[in-house]
Amino acid sequence: MRIVKSIPQLRKLVAAQRTKGRSIGFVPTMGALHEGHLSLIRLAQRKSKYVVVSIFVNPAQFGPKEDLAKYPRDLKRDAALCRSAGADLVFAPRARDVYPDNYHTYVTVGQLSEGLCGASRPGHFKGVATVVAKLFNMVQPDVAVFGQKDAQQAAVIRQLARDLDFPVRIVVGPIVRERDGLAMSSRNAYLTPAERAQAPALHHALNLAKWLVRSGRRESGMVKREMMRMIAREAPLGEVDYVGIVNNRTLEPITKVTSDTLVALAVKFPSARLIDNVVIR
Ligand code: PAJ
Repeated sequence: MRIVKSIPQLRKLVAAQRTKGRSIGFVPTMGALHEGHLSLIRLAQRKSKYVVVSIFVNPAQFGPKEDLAKYPRDLKRDAALCRSAGADLVFAPRARDVYPDNYHTYVTVGQLSEGLCGASRPGHFKGVATVVAKLFNMVQPDVAVFGQKDAQQAAVIRQLARDLDFPVRIVVGPIVRERDGLAMSSRNAYLTPAERAQAPALHHALNLAKWLVRSGRRESGMVKREMMRMIAREAPLGEVDYVGIVNNRTLEPITKVTSDTLVALAVKFPSARLIDNVVIR
């Protein structure tokens, strides 16, 4: 497995694979890798011949009060994990190469970027769409794999690829969870033991939503209220940022849960903001 930092070097290595007729799979990450990321690398391997993993903590997607400076960075550890998961190339560009002085171009994906996490993290999806568009141009993958953990991000990327005619197939892998149901996240490491103990409340609230809907109670307002009550009870250290019940395709709020509904939530603990979701089909 190769580790490269320079964009020309990346292009050269990928082009060589392409001339051999190998399809290129791509998994963009910000490092601090866990089993969720590794599951996407394995999925990319099944969908393509040569797998590129990018590791880049993208400054453009962090708000001024967010955790850019303290985001965990350990390239050696991450590269070893990529190798163990079967990646062929790790691309870890320097921030000054991705955003050189005098950088001015940003990509905004309208509509889908506005609700849910977009409402509490202004500019976040603009930063994500910009870096992913740039990474797509650098790597030029046939297949790019994202996680359902960030459902809104996956929707934004699908729209981006479609709208800007990127010749890439977007594949979305399922959420990987800890044994107690907490969705794996690089930010879980920030949680204090007390917060960590309460964090499965997000998953419990989503299970409650599924159960309510299954037993015929489909009114969104009621489902949200019951979810909030459960979180207040199980996670007193957390503060609900949002509970969204939306159409899984358009991400528009719906008043009655039907098939293909996304139930998504964000809870702010003092040490980290956590997100999770479930699709009700
Ligand atoms: P990052 O948070 O490192 O996540 C990289 C990929 O891993 C994303 O597609 C994310 O949805 C997926 N992922 C994270 N936790 C997961 C879990 N528990 N189960 C399955 N997949 C999971 O998302 C980003 O980085 C960035 O925004 C990025 C797309 C790299 C652009 O900077």
